[in-house]
Amino acid sequence: MSNKVRKTAFESLKKHKKRLADTTMRDLFAHDPDRFATYSVSFDDLLLDYSKNRIDSQSMTALFDLARDVDVEGRRDDMWAGKPINTTENRSVLHMALRYFGDEPVTVDGADVMPAVRDVLACIKGFSDDIRDGAIRGARGDQFTDVVNIGIGGSDLGPAMVTLALEPLTRKNLRVHYVSNVDGAHIHDTLKMLNAETTLFIVASKTFTTDETMTNARSARGWISEFLGEDAVPDHFAAVSTNLEACAQFGIRDERIFGFWDWVGGRYSVWSAIGLPIAIAVGYENFEAFLRGAYEMDQHFLTAPLEKNLPVIMGLLGVWYRNAWGFATHAVLPYDQRLSRFPAYLQQQDMESNGKSVTLNGKPAPWETGPVIWGEPGTNGQHAFYQLIHQGTAVIPCDFLIAANRHEQHPEHHAKLVANCFAQSEALMLGKTAEEVTNELKGSGLSKDQIKALVPHKVFPGNRPSNTLLYSKLDPQTLGKLVALYEHKVFVQGTIWNVNSYDQWGVELGKQLAKALLPKVETDAATDTHDSSTRGLLARFHELKQ
Ligand code: F6P
Repeated sequence: MSNKVRKTAFESLKKHKKRLADTTMRDLFAHDPDRFATYSVSFDDLLLDYSKNRIDSQSMTALFDLARDVDVEGRRDDMWAGKPINTTENRSVLHMALRYFGDEPVTVDGADVMPAVRDVLACIKGFSDDIRDGAIRGARGDQFTDVVNIGIGGSDLGPAMVTLALEPLTRKNLRVHYVSNVDGAHIHDTLKMLNAETTLFIVASKTFTTDETMTNARSARGWISEFLGEDAVPDHFAAVSTNLEACAQFGIRDERIFGFWDWVGGRYSVWSAIGLPIAIAVGYENFEAFLRGAYEMDQHFLTAPLEKNLPVIMGLLGVWYRNAWGFATHAVLPYDQRLSRFPAYLQQQDMESNGKSVTLNGKPAPWETGPVIWGEPGTNGQHAFYQLIHQGTAVIPCDFLIAANRHEQHPEHHAKLVANCFAQSEALMLGKTAEEVTNELKGSGLSKDQIKALVPHKVFPGNRPSNTLLYSKLDPQTLGKLVALYEHKVFVQGTIWNVNSYDQWGVELGKQLAKALLPKVETDAATDTHDSSTRGLLARFHELKQ
């Protein structure tokens, strides 16, 4: 479907928006006792309640029509068939193969990738078991107690997020740390707590050229050399990469290099050997359960009708708010402290995928594309930025995430967590009218004039949209489902916006300029090719530098 036809579809969505602009969700709920049943959908124990959105049946029909018009299903099938839908890099997009538990071949250029996928999984299992059992030890014969993953972006955020999310399954005496930032503080503060004898490093980089990762990896190697001698380095390092040659050059032993493939995007790589630190932290069986959860979500995405398809519904609602209502940001609010890195993980997944301004044909996108994704766990956010979500001038669609069951023995805490989560979406939807505020203030001892002055400040506009994802427990399988759900949501939106969700050229310019600037930071080399701001900053930097 051409950009012109998409434009027409967005115009039609805007008409639906206009039609609904004065309708409140309060009224919609009041007039339809079945609204929750109509606008909620379950997959296994995972419930998506999207009834608290500014939608009715006509607008949802228009959205599903849009999904059909742009052939979301056809493009989805192309992706699964291994077609090079990442057109600017001429690559297939097959992260689904990494968690495929079926019997069919999955092909790229006619070759089945599954045997290689399964081989790498077997290596991950062997290595992670051996680290956990102490069969593989450090150069001086000590069992590893600490594993430091050195990577950035997709080689960090996924495993870091998952390791934290699955904390109840980790061992006290085997800790996994993540070092990503080129800021020396990151590696320094991490190593400060560790013993070289019992520390294993995993250098994780799809390309094995990323400057931050290679700089941190060299510092880690220096640290091992300093304490244990250069000969100890191979015993204390493993690597995960598509660039096997560069890993070997770094000095990593062959059997400790875990490969993956160019048809796995960095931000979609947590299912690959990039997940090695997860397998070490929680055990291979739990890592496999995480993959299985994603596989189940894949099957749902591949087969469920659009109207019952969770990623499709979430993707369409995002398009509705971005393109018809003009809402620029989207908050992800997990009511789960262990999902505190989930919003950061989704920032890369979503914003690096759909933060594009040209369509597949290279022309400027004539519509808005990816929103800003942000968030923090509840209830913390309630005491920080929720003020703006409730009463600010910007409307921010939110996703609330909550488990019905807790891992730990604190029933009182969990009941409060759940009550807060449900209360927030209710408050956002209902708001509080001037009349309700006035009635509440009557009898408070305030004068009529004081009440009149206070009322506008205490009014909540309401009618603010949210989804709620409710699941039984945050276990590996559920986490796999959640992550895959958001991956497919991003796919649906990228298809509608007609952008390439699988490249990331926008990160290159900064890298290039940083390379060019480095000698001017390290020495007083001439800076006259730079703009006056950059020249001024460099000059002042050199003045301040001790
Ligand atoms: O700079 C962006 C990026 O390329 C991400 O897409 C990627 O996840 C990250 O850098 C790390 O890349 P690598 O795994 O090759 O080190």
